[in-house]
Amino acid sequence: MPTLKYYGHSAFRIQDNQHTVFIDPYLSGNPLCGLDPKEINRCDYILLTHGHADHIGDTVALAQANNATVVATYELAMFLNAKYTLKIHPMAPGGAHTFPFGRVKMTPAIHGVGADPMPDGNQPPPNTPVGLLISWGKTKHIYHAGDTALFGDMKLIGEEVKIDVACLPIGDNFTMGIDDAARASTLLGANLYIPIHFNTFEIIKVDPLAFAFRVEKGGHKCKILKPGEKIDL
Ligand code: NI
Ligand code: MN
Repeated sequence: MPTLKYYGHSAFRIQDNQHTVFIDPYLSGNPLCGLDPKEINRCDYILLTHGHADHIGDTVALAQANNATVVATYELAMFLNAKYTLKIHPMAPGGAHTFPFGRVKMTPAIHGVGADPMPDGNQPPPNTPVGLLISWGKTKHIYHAGDTALFGDMKLIGEEVKIDVACLPIGDNFTMGIDDAARASTLLGANLYIPIHFNTFEIIKVDPLAFAFRVEKGGHKCKILKPGEKIDL
């Protein structure tokens, strides 16, 4: 059975006996995590939602140490290959591809396109932010919204598959806040909602219980994961 592990902020790992996939592996610099990527010895793929430092995180170290392939939008993927010779799979919003672990579709996200410089000073190009609709082994559907505003076409994402778990940013300021994330939950129709992208920094401090209350009032389930917590999918 695949498991979903949360590292705080927007960082996750999905893993089963055969495959290990990280999403936005912001680990060592993440105030909610602080994990040294050297402690991770299984990683086949890294999925990136966009080029901000709190999402690229430890991608380079993690990919190099584990010979992992980075799945990202074209501009970001080409940069990571050119500067760090990482194995890449470039995609763009609306496109899907089937990998050994399952299918990934890049979904729209409304967010900033600029990129933070890498710790070594290399500057990634502007890149389109995306969400990720992951169909793990064809049976479990996970929607990671990335950093995004609320948009009405989330309804279309919910119509495409019955989403098992939807990870939605709630921290406000840079992404949806609690009200808009709760409205998103009514559009997506997922079985379970997990709040992300909150309380990592002062500027995105919110009470996740307020989100859970709103989601549950709308008739949906919500689970607030603690950094390091893992659930079965
Ligand atoms: Ni961002
Ligand atoms: Mn972010």
